[in-house]
Amino acid sequence: MLKRILAISLFAVALVVLTTGINAGGDKKGKVKDKKDDPKYNNPTFVPTADEVIEKMFEMGKVNKNDVIFDLGCGDNRICFMAAKKFGSRGVGIETNPVRIREAMDMFDKYNKDDAIVFGPVKLPLVETRHGDALAMKDLKDATVVVMYMFPEFMDLWFPIAEKTLKPGTRILSHDYSWTKGWEPVATATVKSSSRDNHKVLMWVVPEKKK
Ligand SMILES: C[S@@+](CC[C@H](N)C(=O)[O-])C[C@H]1O[C@@H](n2cnc3c(N)ncnc32)[C@H](O)[C@@H]1O
Repeated sequence: MLKRILAISLFAVALVVLTTGINAGGDKKGKVKDKKDDPKYNNPTFVPTADEVIEKMFEMGKVNKNDVIFDLGCGDNRICFMAAKKFGSRGVGIETNPVRIREAMDMFDKYNKDDAIVFGPVKLPLVETRHGDALAMKDLKDATVVVMYMFPEFMDLWFPIAEKTLKPGTRILSHDYSWTKGWEPVATATVKSSSRDNHKVLMWVVPEKKK
């Protein structure tokens, strides 16, 4: 009898371990999530770039209506909305955190009320906000300007992608941070805002490919 109870208990434990093991990697519907789909970098720190710094980025990058701006880790995507309003340029912001995507949708409502999104004959909304990984963008080559406020760990992961994908002449503007190994900046500036007086803006221009 004791042997039988022991055998049943062992079977029950084995079943629990097996089931938990399967659910640990899956969602509520039981679909197993593949670890390879997780972003390599996903630091959720959100500090919006101050307006004064954004204006400086626009000035240094000579942003204009022909530009397509990509904001990597866009937060509420304010930078793309500001550029659309000011210049009529197109913008794509990408962000991993769904809370920020919600905020970007509110931002869209705010700017849309101003009639600032649609300029002239362009019928598409000028600004797009995507929920996704900035290290896995398929259309990065379409950017003429890339902006970011990301830690060096991200920038180091992104640099080889930039080197391979971006068109020569594309301007890259970063708030405060740089990669540790890559192109040298062509310009830097220090900017004051209401929160601090030492924001850094760095700009790189993608060089011609070496033959
Ligand atoms: C410091 S905020 C900058 C927001 C905005 N670009 C700005 O300058 O105002 C960085 C944002 O990057 C997002 N982020 C982190 N890793 C990411 C990744 N791999 N892909 C897309 N977004 C990411 C964070 O969730 C955060 O909202």
